[in-house]
Amino acid sequence: MHAYRAALLHCLADPCEVGDAACQYFADGLLVVAAGKVAQIGDAAELLPQLPAGVPVSEYRDALIVPGFVDTHIHFPQVGVIGSCGAQLLDWLQTYTFPAEARFADPQHAREQAAFFLQELLRNGTTTALVFCTVHPQSVDAFFVEAERLGLRMIAGKVLMDRNAPEELSDSAASGYDESKTLIERWHGRGRLHYAVTPRFAATSTPEQLDLAARLLREYPGLYLHTHLAENQAEIAWVKELFPERSGYLDVYDHHGLLGARSVFAHAIHLCDAECRRLGESGSAVAFCPTSNLFLGSGLFDLARMDAHGVRVGLGTDIGAGTSFSALATLDEAYKVLQLQGQRLDPFRALYLATLGGAHALYLDERIGNLLPGKDADFVVLDLKATPLLEHRLAQSQSLAETLFALTILGDDRAVRESFAAGVSVHQR
Ligand code: GUN
Ligand code: ZN
Repeated sequence: MHAYRAALLHCLADPCEVGDAACQYFADGLLVVAAGKVAQIGDAAELLPQLPAGVPVSEYRDALIVPGFVDTHIHFPQVGVIGSCGAQLLDWLQTYTFPAEARFADPQHAREQAAFFLQELLRNGTTTALVFCTVHPQSVDAFFVEAERLGLRMIAGKVLMDRNAPEELSDSAASGYDESKTLIERWHGRGRLHYAVTPRFAATSTPEQLDLAARLLREYPGLYLHTHLAENQAEIAWVKELFPERSGYLDVYDHHGLLGARSVFAHAIHLCDAECRRLGESGSAVAFCPTSNLFLGSGLFDLARMDAHGVRVGLGTDIGAGTSFSALATLDEAYKVLQLQGQRLDPFRALYLATLGGAHALYLDERIGNLLPGKDADFVVLDLKATPLLEHRLAQSQSLAETLFALTILGDDRAVRESFAAGVSVHQR
C-alpha cells in the first residue's frame, strides 16, 4: 500500500452529458493505492488519519494528479518520421512511412523502437494506447514484450495489407489471418494486454482480407478492430474506385462486418450524417487526431456532430503524422480545430477526452480512465510550475477551470513530473 498526497482531479462522467457533476476535485487530496489498484480517493484530512500505520505517503507540492492519459490512435513504428515535410496522406505514406516501416523486419530494430516509443509515451503521461505495429509479426512481439515488462495496459496489432503496398510490407489474406491468429493466441488477454485486428485502411486490403479480419473478430471475444477512415479527399476518392459497389467509405467496413463495440476508426473527418449515425448506433468509436489532421492538411474533425450522433470519441496523437506525443499538446490543437468551426472545447471536456472518454471509446472505462476505487492505479503527476510561463500564467488563475484550461494550452511533456502504471512509478522527470 502507498498513498499520494496532492491536488487530485478526475472525471466521473462526460461533462457534455452531466455538466459540473462530471468531475471530482480534491484541493488537498489523498490517493491510496494497493496491489496496483486504487483503494481510496478523497480529502487528505479525512483519509490520512485512517491510513494503517507505516503506509508511506508521497507528497507533491504545486502538483495535480490526474488519471493516466489514453491515446486512442498512434503508430509505434512511425516515431522516426515525425516532422517529415511537404506531403499529404498518400504521398506521405509512400515517401516516408512505408520505407520506415520496412525496417521493422529486423527484430532488433523493432525492439529498440518499441523501448523508445513506450518511454516517450510515459514521459508524456500516457499509460494506455491503441497502437499500430507494422505488417511484421516480430514488430508486435517487440511491442508487447516491452509493454508487459513495464506493466502497461496496451492494445496493439499487426498491420494487414494485401494490396497497394510495397512488396516487403505486404501479406496475403491467408497469411495475414494466420499470423494474426498466432499473435492473438500469444498476447490477447495476457496480463494487461489486448489485441487489435489492424487492416491499415480500405485501400490496402482486398475484400477477402476484410472478411477474414471480421472472422477473427467473431472467433475471439474482446478483440479490437483498428483502422483509418475518411481522412483525406484523395484517399476517399481512391477507396470509392476500389469498392465501386459500396455506398461510401464507412460502408466498406460495415459491409465486411467490421463495425461495433471495440472498433476504432482514426480521423473520421469527411463523413455524412448517415455515416455518423451508423458509427453511433453500432457502438463504434472514432479517434480525433488534431495535430495529424493539421500537419497533413487533412481537414477539421467535427466533434459536435459526433456528439449529436452519440459516437464514442477518443483523442489520438497519430504519431508520426501527428506532431506530439503529449495529450496536453494534442488538446491545445483540438481546441483550435474546434474554434475554427465555432465550437468550444470546455477544459473539463478536454480532460475527459484525454482520460475517461478515451477509456469509454475503448470499452475500458470499467478498468481505467479515472481514479475511483477498484480502477487500475494508472496516474500522472503534473507539475503546475513546469515552465516559467506556466507558473506565471497559473499564478493569475481565478478558478480550477482556468487552471486546467491554461494547462492544456501551455502544457506538454515538461509538465509531466511522474507517471504510474498499476501503482508502479514508470517515469520520473
Ligand atoms: N492511412 C493509412 N495509413 C495511415 C497512416 O499510417 N497514417 C495516417 N495518418 N493515415 C493513414
Ligand atoms: Zn494513423
